[in-house]
Amino acid sequence: MYIVMVASECAPIIKAGGLGDVVYGLSRELEIRGNTVEIILPKYDCMRYDQIWGLQCVYPDLWVPWFGGAIHCSVWFGFAHGRKCYFIDPHSADQFFNRGTYYGCNDDQMRFAFFSKAAMEFMLKDNKRPDIIHCHDWQTGLIPVMLAEIYKHLGMQNQRVCFTIHNFKHQGIYSGQLLEATGLRRPEHFFRHEQMGDNFNPHLLNIMKGGIIYSNFVTTVSPQHAWEARFTDQSYGLGHTLHISQHKFDGVLNGVDYDIWNPEIDRYIPARYGMGNLDDKYRNKEALRDRFWLRKDYKPIIAYVGRLDDQKGVHLIRHGIFYALHNNAQFILLGTSPEASINADFWNLKRHLNDSPDCHLELSFNEEVSHLIYAGADMFLMPSNFEPCGLSQVISLKYGTVPIVRNVGGLVNTVFDKDHHHSKPLHERNGFVFQHSDYAAVEGAMYRGIRLFYDYPAHFRELMYNGMRYDFSWNYPAQRYLGIYDYIRAK
Ligand code: GLC
Repeated sequence: MYIVMVASECAPIIKAGGLGDVVYGLSRELEIRGNTVEIILPKYDCMRYDQIWGLQCVYPDLWVPWFGGAIHCSVWFGFAHGRKCYFIDPHSADQFFNRGTYYGCNDDQMRFAFFSKAAMEFMLKDNKRPDIIHCHDWQTGLIPVMLAEIYKHLGMQNQRVCFTIHNFKHQGIYSGQLLEATGLRRPEHFFRHEQMGDNFNPHLLNIMKGGIIYSNFVTTVSPQHAWEARFTDQSYGLGHTLHISQHKFDGVLNGVDYDIWNPEIDRYIPARYGMGNLDDKYRNKEALRDRFWLRKDYKPIIAYVGRLDDQKGVHLIRHGIFYALHNNAQFILLGTSPEASINADFWNLKRHLNDSPDCHLELSFNEEVSHLIYAGADMFLMPSNFEPCGLSQVISLKYGTVPIVRNVGGLVNTVFDKDHHHSKPLHERNGFVFQHSDYAAVEGAMYRGIRLFYDYPAHFRELMYNGMRYDFSWNYPAQRYLGIYDYIRAK
């Protein structure tokens, strides 16, 4: 099969979050299974050029219709750790992708509408006729709309679209300018409620909604989140749209790339280990303590790695730090926040805890250090408010680091409570799960983890093994996606 992925990120060259890992990991696995996969991306000024091999201009003159005129673009090609990537490089005063950042500009909706238009135009002009176009998040939500409304009539009638939603919080809501710019026009048509009209503001268009309505199949990144998106407020107003699209909507759990995240072969950790030599994990614990000047006592280390924001339950993370310190545990945190006020808060906290021999807050992001933390910590805290899939808990399991998570989204599909998950046999339970988003709930689960560590070390060790035995590789999800692709091709 011939698949073109269109996305705003692809790890490790362009990565703001889990989306980048998914685009890379899924593409790789599909290729291993004998499919042809190409990835179309924006050519950002700030991407990791040092990680791209053989970058060259392959299509110097692509004219992309935009408003009344056209914008001159070049298309580049290069290998990103083996993946075939095309990069769209517009030459206009807008400098759409020369902003020193991937997201966060006032005109993001226009930037990515342009990217989507250019991706379609490139496929058309370069005679690319993939069986499947796989789009990701709102940034590419206009692709199925333009395919059906414009490009189908220009010779692209056989292409099918799968649209994967990684985060419902960002939907790309914008004015009718989008229609003029992309050549969709016909506001009277597109503003309708059955169309792209936003479910709550009739004067605005909702790109993600358009993506859902027009795609042949829509997925989100875990079965539990697919349910939450339809039946709770977690799809931020798109529940009805998903409800009427239920026949083509499902949850497919993301995989993780075990070539990168595997303690047996990890090049960033001092001591490699697996189920056969689990004790070597503790050499990493020593190294982690050396690195962050933590005291070497017989105590568990609880860790958090990731973005610090409301989605991740930042107030509960903060609380978890103090709870750990008051209950004979150590805490290590690695992360930053996109919000200045949260960053400032954590910098204050860091100063406040500066002299603690049991705590270290590393307020930056460093992939290499994150490997050492996964390997060296005993437990991993993830009190998310919502979590479409989540990667950190799955990595933790592989590293024998017991996750303590809230039961939401993908966490429900990957972490099974040691004491309460009665439908699973004991040897399949792999962590601690709590229900509510409040202090008492986090404390309860952390208490159970810390007590098990001290009072029943053999049981704690069992829990570590149970997690390490799980296989959350891309193997199964890739099969699921191939099944979906086959299904929509046959329709
Ligand atoms: C988003 C979600 C996260 C998911 C990731 C990859 O970042 O917040 O839960 O794991 O996308 O799909």
